[in-house]
Amino acid sequence: MNQADVSDILKSHGQDHIVDHYRRLTPDRQKELYDHIAGLDLDLVFKLHRDRARAGDVSSLSVKIGPARIVPLPRTPEDMERHAAAQSAGKSLISDRGVAVLIVAGGQGVRLGHDKPKGTFPISPIKNKTLFQLFAEQTKALQARFLSRIPLVIMTSEENHDDTVAFFNSYNYFGIDKGDVLFFSQGMLPTITPQGELLLRDDTHLLTNPDGHGGSLKALATSGILQHLIDLGIAELFYCQVDNPLVKIADPVFLGYHALAKAECSTKVVRRENINEKVGVYVSLNGKDAILEYSDFGGRHMRTLDKEGNVLYWAGNTAIHILNLAFVKRLNDHGFALPYHCATKTIDKPGPGGTPRPVDVWKFETFVFDAIPLAERTCCMEVDRREEFAPVKNKTGPDSPATACRAMARLHRQWLEEAGIRVPPELKVEISPLFALDKKDLAERLREKKLSVQEDTYLG
Ligand code: UTP
Repeated sequence: MNQADVSDILKSHGQDHIVDHYRRLTPDRQKELYDHIAGLDLDLVFKLHRDRARAGDVSSLSVKIGPARIVPLPRTPEDMERHAAAQSAGKSLISDRGVAVLIVAGGQGVRLGHDKPKGTFPISPIKNKTLFQLFAEQTKALQARFLSRIPLVIMTSEENHDDTVAFFNSYNYFGIDKGDVLFFSQGMLPTITPQGELLLRDDTHLLTNPDGHGGSLKALATSGILQHLIDLGIAELFYCQVDNPLVKIADPVFLGYHALAKAECSTKVVRRENINEKVGVYVSLNGKDAILEYSDFGGRHMRTLDKEGNVLYWAGNTAIHILNLAFVKRLNDHGFALPYHCATKTIDKPGPGGTPRPVDVWKFETFVFDAIPLAERTCCMEVDRREEFAPVKNKTGPDSPATACRAMARLHRQWLEEAGIRVPPELKVEISPLFALDKKDLAERLREKKLSVQEDTYLG
C-alpha cells in the first residue's frame, strides 16, 4: 500500500477529516501518520463496524444451553486416584519439555489505574513482590524441580511493551535464563465511533485499542513464537492472565487432565459465589463446551437454580487455560478464527478550544475463551477459589490489590497450619515460590524443622 492507497481507503470509508488532517502535515509527519495507518487493519475494522461484531454473539432463540461436564474437586478416594494419575501425567509432560507458559499482559488496566504495566504492580503480603515476579519465580522453581526448560512467554501491547521488557531486564529476568523469556506484542485495532468515524490520538496516530486477550492466539502466530515453540518440541501452552497472583503456573494436575483427555483446550473454573457474581460461566452450548459472558441473554441463565435450589450454572471462568499448540496453529490457518466482540466505552476527546468532551466509541476485541467451542476435545476442571483465584481488577473494593494480597496471606497461612505450624491471627506470612510451590511441597520442606512464627514471616 502506498500513501495514495491509504488516502483512497480512508476516503472510501468517509474518513475525509483524517485525509484533510494528513494534508495539513509536513511531509515528515505525513510519513509518520501514513506508516502508522499502513500497519493497521482498516478493512477489518470497517467490516466489523458494519457487522457490529454480530459473529461473536449468540441469539437466545437458536441455542440449547445446559451444564457442562466438569471434573469435580477431589472428594472421594476414586477422585483422589484420578487426580494422582493426572498429576503424574502432567509431571511427565513438564519433564519431557513439552510445556510453555503464556501470560497475557497487554490490557490497559484502566480500572486499576496503575500508570505502569499491570504485571509490575506489587502484590505479595510481606515482600511486595510484583505479579510478574511471582509468575517468574514459579516458572524458575518448576524448571529446577523438573530439570526442564519451560519458556515463559509474555504478551504485551504497543502501549506497554518497552516498559515490560525493561522491567524484566532490570530484574535480570528474575533468575530465569534470558533466552527462555520471550515477549511479543499483541495487535492493535483502530477505535471507531458508532457513527463510523476514526479518531486521532495525536497528530500522527489514530486512536487504537489492543485487540483483546484472544489476540494472543493470533499474535503468537504472527510473531513467529508459535512456530518457535513447536520447533522446540513443545505441544502444550499453559495460559493465564497477569492479574491473578494465585495462578498455579503449569499446574501438573491440570496439565495431566488435559493430556489424558487429549483435549485441545482446557479450562479451570471456580464455583460462583452467588447468582449475582458477574463472571463468565462454563456451559454446554448446542452440544459444545463454551463460556457465556454474564451479559449474554441479558444475564437470564446466570440466575437459574437447579431443583435443590443451587446455582445451576455454577462454573465461573478463571481465565486459566491449556491450549494445544497444533490447535492454536489451526485457529490461524484460514484467517483468524475467533469472532470479534464490540464494547462501547466513553472517552474524553479534545473538543474546540482543547476542552475535552465525552464521546462514545466502539472497541473491537476477541476473547480467548471463544477458542473453546472451536476445539475438537475440551476438558474443564473445578478448583478451589481460595487457592487459585484472586484477580486484581479494581483500585479498591472487590477484586482489588487489597483482596488479592489478603487471599495470598490467607492461603500461605493455611499451608503452614496444615503443615502443623501455628500462625497467630495478627501475623502475616508469605512463602516464596522458590521455597515451596504448594502445601505438599511446604510440608516436605518443613518436615523435622522446628519453625515457630512469632512475627510476620517470609519463607524464601
Ligand atoms: P481485563 O479484561 O480484565 O482488562 O483483562 P485489563 O486491561 O486488565 O483491565 P481494564 O478492563 O482495562 O480495567 C484480563 C486480562 O487480559 C489481558 C489483561 O492484561 C489481563 O491480564 N488483556 C486484556 C490483554 O492482554 N489484552 C487485551 O487486549 C485485553
